[in-house]
Amino acid sequence: MSSFDLQAADWDKEPRRLLLSQKVAAAIRKEIQLTKNFRACEYGCGTGLLSFCLKDDIGEILLADNSSGMLEVLNQKIKDHAVDNMKTLMLDLSTHDGPDAAFDLVYLQMALHHIPDSRDVLLKFRRMLKPGGFLAIADLDSEDGSFHHGVFTGHKGFDRLALSMLLKECGFDAVKIEDLCQFTKLNARDVEQTYSIFFACGRAV
Ligand SMILES: C[S@@+](CC[C@H](N)C(=O)[O-])C[C@H]1O[C@@H](n2cnc3c(N)ncnc32)[C@H](O)[C@@H]1O
Repeated sequence: MSSFDLQAADWDKEPRRLLLSQKVAAAIRKEIQLTKNFRACEYGCGTGLLSFCLKDDIGEILLADNSSGMLEVLNQKIKDHAVDNMKTLMLDLSTHDGPDAAFDLVYLQMALHHIPDSRDVLLKFRRMLKPGGFLAIADLDSEDGSFHHGVFTGHKGFDRLALSMLLKECGFDAVKIEDLCQFTKLNARDVEQTYSIFFACGRAV
């Protein structure tokens, strides 16, 4: 059982997570002309907080994650709200490929830093997108390693310039990375600390 499986039942109880999703959804709407013809994929979707904010702007959404606990909570929410344009998929792109050229938009919130091989997963997003399709990422700016409690093997946030170059190398153009917001939470030493979040966007070449 992963740590995300264990956190899933209480994930939505932390208000800063929904607040962040609302800001990411607004940034996506501002940057991308969403339509009901869009097929989108949210990767590392957790309980689907972000996709619930966007579900009325997009035709179909595939929500993918490798935590069965998160997907169980999400499936219950989809059922409770009678949502008819969301499907879920257990998927780990570290070990599997996604569907080819299937999406107009791939988006993720606070998930990229959990995936050790950023280049590999960005190349997989590129292949999942139709030419001209959009990738949108909201994640942590470089931090001092205090964000996560317990054992953590992912990235201590991202340097914007390095990420921008990597996105271009992986087949994205029109790459933009801007400030999204900051939030304060207890760090690994149980002291309040402020972290900043960027919003990145690019188009599949
Ligand atoms: C910090 S949580 C963010 C969840 C959600 N996006 C949100 O902002 O509320 C990171 C999510 O990424 C998922 N995740 C981590 N590694 C993954 C992988 N290799 N493949 C798919 N999902 C992964 C976790 O299960 C978890 O749901």
